[in-house]
Amino acid sequence: MSDRDWYEWHLQYEDPDSHLAQRLATVQSRIRAALDEAPPGPLRAISVVAGQGRDLIPVLATRPRGADVTARLVELDPRNTAVARELADGLPPVASVSSASSVSSVDIVTGDASLVEAYAGLIPADLVLLCGLFGNITDEDIRATISAARGLTRTGGMVIWTRGRFTPDEFDWVASAFEENDFERVFVSAPGPRYGVGQHRHTGPVLPLPPGSMFTFVGRHELKARGLR
Ligand SMILES: C[S@@+](CC[C@H](N)C(=O)[O-])C[C@H]1O[C@@H](n2cnc3c(N)ncnc32)[C@H](O)[C@@H]1O
Repeated sequence: MSDRDWYEWHLQYEDPDSHLAQRLATVQSRIRAALDEAPPGPLRAISVVAGQGRDLIPVLATRPRGADVTARLVELDPRNTAVARELADGLPPVASVSSASSVSSVDIVTGDASLVEAYAGLIPADLVLLCGLFGNITDEDIRATISAARGLTRTGGMVIWTRGRFTPDEFDWVASAFEENDFERVFVSAPGPRYGVGQHRHTGPVLPLPPGSMFTFVGRHELKARGLR
């Protein structure tokens, strides 16, 4: 059980000056870059704790490679998946930017994103989004999820992730943890804002995923209350 209303949390995106809206712009620019640079052919994307899909769905609508992408977004709160579905249903045709007539497929699942089974058929993926996750799970689970990312991401595929920059600032060790697990740094946002965004390319072999749960979503405030952060 988490510690806040995750539907209301998304309202912060409505304020363009909010940290969250600024973080979203950075995440979207990294998704655009990852899609633009991806090898030709069909692409697979997954979003873990996807929320309302505000990062991935609009980018799929506007990039030439959007039509090549089969995506699965996994999110627990049905109010958020309802918004994501509306967003996906409203995707305009991308005929103006590509020969395809629509985004290929966006599958929005209301369910537990910690379970590796949730991504069956789409992993290893070309693009893995781990946004809004690491601030809400224990350090041990951050490490476990990064380790699991070697099974979620194809060799050469990209992970785009976020970690808030509070005191103590945990952004750098999360970036290092990727680099200790066969990921190479493609982008890290500059220090300064309260949010951090990273992009890492998987350079190692795809490793088998142990079945079951990668993390327990605790929530930032609850982690603090329990002395876990
Ligand atoms: C901080 S928000 C991030 C949402 C989105 N990735 C973004 O960056 O806009 C975390 C989301 O995780 C969802 N969540 C919490 N536990 C979950 C779980 N076990 N499986 C799937 N989603 C979960 C919450 O409902 C919330 O929407």
